[in-house]
Formats: sequence, structure tokens, C-alpha cells
Amino acid sequence: MYICVCNAISERHVQDAIAQGAKDLGDLQAQLGIATCCGQCAETATDYLPGGRYAAEVAPAASVQPRRAVEVTLLTSTQVARVA
Ligand code: FES
Repeated sequence: MYICVCNAISERHVQDAIAQGAKDLGDLQAQLGIATCCGQCAETATDYLPGGRYAAEVAPAASVQPRRAVEVTLLTSTQVARVA
């Protein structure tokens, strides 16, 4: 679910930022850019912070899965033609 439509920021993005240390709306704005356009999402984003009504839905930092690096090989059109 998107929380910030202006910046395409999802609930998951907000939860991850808080689990990794964001403490207030300013931290979320700095890390994600949330509530930096129309501002309609500011109250909802704040609800995920400690003490907010959705705070219980934020997993502790230790349970957040680290992102994995993915290796991608780009092929030229000639290489693609050889493979096909
Ligand atoms: S909905 Fe987040 S800034 Fe507009």
C-alpha cells in the first residue's frame, strides 16, 4: 500500500526506514523523501513512528532482511542474436 502517492513510497519503505533507525518525520523525509510534496501523507507516516497507532506493525531492525546484491549481465544485440 502506498502511503505517499506523490513520491511512490510504500508502507514497507516506511516500516523499513523506522526499523533501521528513523525516529521522527524529519528522518523519514530525509531518508525517503516522504511528505515533501503535498504533505497529505505526513500524518499517516507519523502513525508508524514509536507511539503511533501503527507502530506495532514495524518489525525490529534485527528481523529486517538485508537486501541482496544481484548480478546482472547486459548483452549487446549481437550477443543476444547468438544466444537466440
Ligand atoms: S502524498 Fe506524500 S507528499 Fe503528497
